[in-house]
Amino acid sequence: MHKVPVGVLGASGYAGRELCELIVRHPRLELAWATANDQCGTTVRAAGRDVTFIATGDAPLGAAVLVFSALPHGTSQPWVVRARESGALVVDLSADLRPGNGTHGIPYGLTELNRAAVSNAPLVANPGCYATSILTAIAPLFHAGLVPADATVVVNSASGVTGAGNSPKRELLFAEVAADFRAYALGNAHRHLKEMRATFESWGTTADLVFTPHLLPVARGILSTIVVPLERPLDDAIAPWRGAYANEPFVELSSHAPALRDVVHRNVVRISAAPIVGTRRPMLLVTSAIDNLMKGAAGQAVQNANLMLSLDETMGLAA
Ligand SMILES: NC(=O)c1ccc[n+]([C@@H]2O[C@H](COP(=O)([O-])OP(=O)(O)OC[C@H]3O[C@@H](n4cnc5c(N)ncnc54)[C@H](OP(=O)(O)O)[C@@H]3O)[C@@H](O)[C@H]2O)c1
Repeated sequence: MHKVPVGVLGASGYAGRELCELIVRHPRLELAWATANDQCGTTVRAAGRDVTFIATGDAPLGAAVLVFSALPHGTSQPWVVRARESGALVVDLSADLRPGNGTHGIPYGLTELNRAAVSNAPLVANPGCYATSILTAIAPLFHAGLVPADATVVVNSASGVTGAGNSPKRELLFAEVAADFRAYALGNAHRHLKEMRATFESWGTTADLVFTPHLLPVARGILSTIVVPLERPLDDAIAPWRGAYANEPFVELSSHAPALRDVVHRNVVRISAAPIVGTRRPMLLVTSAIDNLMKGAAGQAVQNANLMLSLDETMGLAA
């Protein structure tokens, strides 16, 4: 069967390596080329195939029908422009083109929420990993009008270390991270707040968001616990999700709090919801778990690429 040639910019990074694995396994995609910067010339195994990284400047952009950019923020945007000028469709995994970053009209690839805009789009801004774990988990409550306009949504998320990329950083050394647990970007300083606030705006809500990320000493996975004030108590806490995500292959509802081991290496968001007792105002505790490199990056990017290429959305992404 005819395979679609695709290229990966930044293929030697954590997200890029995951993309290479998914593409080599994908029944209708073919890895045409893969780039690196420092690791240019290195050969790695991806799903049983040797992949040798070429320099980004040597990438034959026009030889790919679709290009994934897994380059760092700031570096990505000029390459996205070049890839588009060469005629390729593009999924950009960086933050450069996401909502809230001064760009407009580029579909935001939270697939379950923006499927119509992503389908057949020439360019998609793939969401941040934290943003995916949070926005997918709470969207049904906002869409059902259950969250007061003056609500403050409080989110604590813990991410595995691959979330920070693979360029060397002292604070990510094994001895710094192992057997420890800490918060960072305190006081709403994390980059993903921009895309989350812009998404709140698109939902027509003025609710506040307080987001505190934490660094968890595991390789991969994000667990978010989210406190959402409600207009009224719910008899059946999970009902809003059951309706919103019926027949979604990559959203799982759980009767108990999900854990990372439920989701690592899988392209899913797993969600639970429980009423919070002992508060004056009704509130829900929503818990969501994802693999930051799959549903939080490469898996969702392939899900979006499938739609852009009019392929089955689930192709190459067996849950
Ligand atoms: N990690 C995650 O969980 C995650 C989740 C969602 C989105 N993202 C986004 O996806 C992108 C990649 O993230 P990552 O974690 O995979 O990062 P990473 O591990 O640091 O990888 C970055 C990639 O870009 C290449 N690169 C770096 N500087 C470059 C330059 N100046 N010119 C050309 N290539 C350059 C690197 O090549 P060398 O390896 O040769 O240096 C590597 O292939 C980022 O924009 C990130 O925000 C990451």
